[in-house]
Amino acid sequence: THARQSVASAAGTLSRMATVDEVTHGFRLDGMLLGVATAATQVEGGDVESSWNDWADRPGTIADGSTPRRATDHWARWREDTELLAELDVQVYRMSVDWARLEPRPGRWDEVAFARYRAELELLRDKGIRPLVTLHHFSHPLWFERDGGWLAPGALWVWERFVAEVVERLGDLVAEWVTINEPNVYVTGAHVFGDFPPGHRSLREGLRVFEVLAVAHIRAYALIHALRPAPDTMVGVAHHLRPFQPGNPLNPWHRALTVVMRRLFQDAIVRAMTTGEFTAPLRRPAGITPGRYADFFGLNYYSRTTVTRFDDGTPPGVPVNDLGWEVYAAGLGQMARWAWETYRLPVWVTENGTCDAVDAFRSRYLWEHLEVLGTVRARGVPVDRYYHWCFVDNWEWNEGEVPRFGLVALDYETQQRSVRDSGRFFAEVIREAGGTT
Ligand code: NOJ
Repeated sequence: THARQSVASAAGTLSRMATVDEVTHGFRLDGMLLGVATAATQVEGGDVESSWNDWADRPGTIADGSTPRRATDHWARWREDTELLAELDVQVYRMSVDWARLEPRPGRWDEVAFARYRAELELLRDKGIRPLVTLHHFSHPLWFERDGGWLAPGALWVWERFVAEVVERLGDLVAEWVTINEPNVYVTGAHVFGDFPPGHRSLREGLRVFEVLAVAHIRAYALIHALRPAPDTMVGVAHHLRPFQPGNPLNPWHRALTVVMRRLFQDAIVRAMTTGEFTAPLRRPAGITPGRYADFFGLNYYSRTTVTRFDDGTPPGVPVNDLGWEVYAAGLGQMARWAWETYRLPVWVTENGTCDAVDAFRSRYLWEHLEVLGTVRARGVPVDRYYHWCFVDNWEWNEGEVPRFGLVALDYETQQRSVRDSGRFFAEVIREAGGTT
């Protein structure tokens, strides 16, 4: 059939050809909802007074000197982009709202910005694409940052005011929410390694921010359910998980550091946010009681860490993407299983993808990661969603415009979009294997 051939040719770089049959039946994706993800700061563009626009203006912060002001101009081109999502038969779409746009001054709401998000969400609904909306994706208003960010005494109150406003105004169009994206990546960048705004370097401070973010999530979880009591309301966190393994398993230092890093970077914050149980090195904040604070387990998966020191180590000789991150599909299955076995929540892969400027291996990457998900699903792990990162090439934080994560290629000069072979491959997989919304 035509579909069969196009999958085989789109996946032409695979070591063996993938047929639609293999992708659909062999991997048992049936019933899983498939789609793509983006985040406001990385696609919208525009002169927003946000922590990241301010950060990118400081010399030396962004590898290629770019700022989020250009990005993919999605703020203006949302119609065209939504049409393209529909053309690719995307079933579910993860996006974020930009707090800095919606609340440009404390307590003052931008009606135009709300109307613009509503129009986008309405068009998604008309196209039958189900949105999953992230409330905090690394960026927030500059006034929030200048007031002391998450460590300011009133931070949680200000955050709840924002969450309530968004849910009240958009909640008729959105049932599914991610409160906070990758708390561990955010905290280590912003407060421990200092390469995200506000650029602080203090492990002590990072641990405190972890505690505040856990409370921010728990309160938002309760608030969203209170404001939107419908049974289809789903609230969770998009956690960045990666397997950690000692560089040399016989080296006691590597082994010890592996245990410490995994707990510090991953396990403690995931537990605190999911169950309200705070384990060392986190301390339980006043007023928090253990409970269930997630309806799904959001899993962002990219790579694994081989530990020899305190960084994202990659051993020599492994397959890597354009940024040098190890491509390790099995890790997605390991993390999905761990999440399910530890928390017994349905797993939503809220992000997974790779940067590959010439689209040499993205189809293969996709196929291998979906295959792994098919395998763990066959063993009873309920992986219900998969959102590929990214829909389109976008502004990759400190790396700027250079890394190409898109299923759709972007020409930054002309803002022209063109679907890559891997994008067509994924669209075929969705058509053949995606569940019913
Ligand atoms: C996860 C982050 O949530 C997203 O913003 C980023 O672009 C991707 N990882 C790729 O680094």
